[in-house]
Amino acid sequence: MTHICQYGTHRVIEPANALPQNAQKIDNTLPIRSNELLVEVDTLNIDSASFTQMKEACGGDLKKVGEMICGIVAERGKQQNPVTGSGGMLLGTVKEIGPEYPNKNGFTVGDKMASLVSLSLTPLHIDEIIEIFPERDQVKIKGHAIFFPSGPVAKIPTDMDQILALAVLDVAGAPAQAYKLVKPGQTVVIIGAGGKSGSLCSVVAREILGNTGKLIAIEPGKGGQARLKELECCDHILDVDATDPLAVQRSISDLTNGEMADLVINVASVDNIEMSSIMAAKVDGTVYLFSMATSFSKAALGAEGIGSDALLIVGNGYAPNNDEISLKVIREHKKLRELFERVYC
Ligand SMILES: NC(=O)c1ccc[n+]([C@@H]2O[C@H](COP(=O)([O-])OP(=O)(O)OC[C@H]3O[C@@H](n4cnc5c(N)ncnc54)[C@H](OP(=O)(O)O)[C@@H]3O)[C@@H](O)[C@H]2O)c1
Repeated sequence: MTHICQYGTHRVIEPANALPQNAQKIDNTLPIRSNELLVEVDTLNIDSASFTQMKEACGGDLKKVGEMICGIVAERGKQQNPVTGSGGMLLGTVKEIGPEYPNKNGFTVGDKMASLVSLSLTPLHIDEIIEIFPERDQVKIKGHAIFFPSGPVAKIPTDMDQILALAVLDVAGAPAQAYKLVKPGQTVVIIGAGGKSGSLCSVVAREILGNTGKLIAIEPGKGGQARLKELECCDHILDVDATDPLAVQRSISDLTNGEMADLVINVASVDNIEMSSIMAAKVDGTVYLFSMATSFSKAALGAEGIGSDALLIVGNGYAPNNDEISLKVIREHKKLRELFERVYC
């Protein structure tokens, strides 16, 4: 009998002992094994940091971005950007359920689903790229993907458009972690607050802070600033480039009389913002690094270099019930839902 593993190691081709996420190459071929779920893929939601990097590397030429994605998937058996290491998630239709797949979602064939695990570990095969939507980092494709028992997946809710659900579920970890981290009375800084995860986190932070504390957004983009104003949840929206740590530190110091932030949430899609995040926080504050452009060595060595004892939290995209939590946020905040429907659908 073929070896099967709940973490999908049976599909790792190289190197030895790797799990699918840190594997260089995984097997994306059919048929599925007995503990797997087969999905016909409709849309890839490419991780924002990854899409930004590929777009830049291709000089903005979308045809080349499509070729790059096909090249990565053909070579690695998964959509894992070799520069950012990140993937994204997908929307699809359940096609086959292995007899030993645990099926915690109660799927039947034909159900619409979204992955809550990264494309960077999901066996994926692309037959054809149908269309690329650069404004929302999405790619419509024809192909299939395979899921293991250990990977969380979600049923697409029936009370909202599937593309809206996909946009929210893509960053489901951020609002779920924000609920755990934000406490009433705190000064909270959100870097990249005008984006998808940033606006979800901003709304959650305001909900927890209520009339207490201070919510400060760092958002240099005019579009992002306008979106945040529309949400009416931030006390301050700073037009500061987060790749400039001293400028960020000065701005937060000015607004907090030198006290700095209790909590910094970094959800910007660019690299080199580790130090802005750390220097915006109190020396014993908390910094949640959700951005996939974050470098562990830059954050850890940089914090050491300035004598910061801040708690640095790796942006784990999973939190229990993150799908339900993030969908609840969008259902309960009318302005946020309208904004998402207009911008990301
Ligand atoms: N940890 C996880 O599991 C996980 C899961 C999904 C996504 N992510 C990561 O989360 C990050 C955000 O994703 P998203 O979908 O929310 O992205 P998004 O919608 O593109 O938002 C990113 C925001 O960052 C802003 N930004 C860009 N350059 C900046 C700078 N120099 N200083 C300050 N802000 C800047 C952008 O402004 P403009 O629009 O003006 O450029 C935008 O508002 C990405 O890095 C993504 O990789 C992590």
